[in-house]
Amino acid sequence: MDQKKTQLVFASNNKHKFNEIAGMLDDRFSLLSLADIGCFTEIPETQNTIEGNAIQKAQFILDNYNTPCFADDTGLEIEALHGEPGVFSSRYAGEKCDFEDNMNLVLAKLGQETYRNARFRTVIALAEKSGTITFEGIVEGTIMFFRKGTGGFGYDPIFKPDGLDKTFAEMTMEEKNAISHRAIALKAFTDYLKSR
Ligand code: IMP
Repeated sequence: MDQKKTQLVFASNNKHKFNEIAGMLDDRFSLLSLADIGCFTEIPETQNTIEGNAIQKAQFILDNYNTPCFADDTGLEIEALHGEPGVFSSRYAGEKCDFEDNMNLVLAKLGQETYRNARFRTVIALAEKSGTITFEGIVEGTIMFFRKGTGGFGYDPIFKPDGLDKTFAEMTMEEKNAISHRAIALKAFTDYLKSR
C-alpha cells in the first residue's frame, strides 16, 4: 500500500512547521524532509515577491531531485510603508539583524503615523511535473505603537489582528495557530490535496 502514497517534500528546515503540516495530511501522503532526500544545500531564495520565493524553492527541489515539492514563504506587508517589509521580512534591518532590530525599524519608520494597517501573508507553492500551483493565507491587522506580549516570534509583539484586542505575542500558540496566515494557507493547501 505504501507505493500508493503520494510522496511530497517540504522545502524547509523548520521542524516545527514540518510536524504541523504532517499532522494535517491524511495517510495518502507521505511527507519527506530535505534531509530525507539528501538535500543539504542552501535553496535559492532570490525573487522579489513572496510567491516568487515560494515557487523558486519548490521548483528547485522538483528540478534537482525529481520529486514533487512544496515550499512556503511569509511576509508582513504594511500599507503606510508601501508593502514593506514584505519579501524582506526576515532581514529587514540587514543581513545579520534579529527580530528586535526588525521591529525597531518598523516602529521607527512608522513613527507617529496613525494609518497602521498591515497584513501577514503566507504563500505555499506546490511544484509537480504537471505544473505549479499556489495557496495564500492572509491575516489583516494593525501595527501597534509599542510591543505587547512575549509569545510567538518575528513581528508578533507589534501585530494585532483585526477584531481581537491582543497582539499575536499575547496569544497562546494554539490561539495563534487557529487563526494565523500560515494556518489559512496550509488549510487551503491540504484541502486541495485531499480533494483530488
Ligand atoms: P518565513 O518565510 O516563514 O521564514 O518568514 C519570513 C519572516 O517573516 C520571518 O523571519 C519573520 O520575521 C516573519 N514572520 C513569518 N511568520 C511570522 C509570524 O507568524 N509572526 C511574526 N512574524 C512572522
